[in-house]
Amino acid sequence: MKVTVYNCRSFDEKGLFEKYGKELGMELVLCPDAPNMENAALAKGSTCIDIITSKMPKELLKVFAENGVKYVTTRTIGYDHIDVKAAKELGLTVANAPYGPCGVADYAVMLILMTIRKMKRILERTNIQDYSLQGIQGRELKDLTVGVIGTGRIGRTVLKNLSGFGCKRIAYDLYENDEVKKDGVPYVSLEEMWEMADVITLHAPLTEDNYHMINQEAIAKMKDGVMLINTARGGLIDSEALICGIESGKIGGAGLDVVENEFGLYYYDHKSDILNNRELAVLRGFPNVTVSHHMAFYTDDYVETVVRDSLLGCKCFMENRENPWEV
Ligand code: NAI
Repeated sequence: MKVTVYNCRSFDEKGLFEKYGKELGMELVLCPDAPNMENAALAKGSTCIDIITSKMPKELLKVFAENGVKYVTTRTIGYDHIDVKAAKELGLTVANAPYGPCGVADYAVMLILMTIRKMKRILERTNIQDYSLQGIQGRELKDLTVGVIGTGRIGRTVLKNLSGFGCKRIAYDLYENDEVKKDGVPYVSLEEMWEMADVITLHAPLTEDNYHMINQEAIAKMKDGVMLINTARGGLIDSEALICGIESGKIGGAGLDVVENEFGLYYYDHKSDILNNRELAVLRGFPNVTVSHHMAFYTDDYVETVVRDSLLGCKCFMENRENPWEV
């Protein structure tokens, strides 16, 4: 049973691959690079390859199929980086490795707390021994209404997490969820969400219909001092409108794990580079905007789950057993 693993990170994944490979009786080829035309030959003799978010177009899939690969698993939830139609035509089975919602949900609540308590300003001050109080007075969740947009796996976990804080919770989704309603959280229209929420946290996927759902018009309808949290996708918020909202004081703060046009930027060390994302530079500079590099998912549970389940899927496939990870 041989699996070739691409983009294998030495600092967190390698040890786990070695552990689970041994436990599952698999021979693993661990490659630190993304799969490409040149290193596809490494997969010769492997039934399965294990990848992350690098693009898998038809031409590349074809080379793997020619090398005898039958199964492509991705250590992510999304698989839109793989041309699934082409894979099927080439006789390749595609699978993913979903991880739990708690990592992102915890992180969203952390960003909410950091934003309402002005934590960025506080941390900046303690770094330079400025222990003054002026300008860092926070707000308490029990006095606030938090609006959750998107009540899927992550949004629902955020609502559960928030239940202990005594805030008023409201929700918006295209489809109402019974569990949410049973928990006493009312669904409201988007117009009501803009009017009622002190904090809005986004947990919907980015689609053609909701691109820039938070734009100038929506912001104008929101409460003065509203705080926006985005751990979903950058394209849900119009960055220019967000910047204007922060500058005018309409928006009281933001916590952003994702921003527009982050593709190709994050997960690399760009210390010495001149970057071409002006919105990110401006947003990073505001004292009331916390920015992180799309890593809300990144926990020990996440790494362990995707490594283990991607290999378990390979094993199921090779043993011709039912495989819950096939897409
Ligand atoms: P999910 O599929 O379980 O839930 C998504 C929910 O959004 C569904 O209830 C759906 O009906 C709703 N929805 C779809 N379009 C909508 C719209 N226009 N307006 C309101 N609601 C809408 O997805 P899950 O696992 O909860 O993930 C949510 C999002 O979180 C993902 O789509 C992804 O963008 C983001 N994410 C971010 C991560 C990070 O590290 N920052 C990691 C994982 C996911």
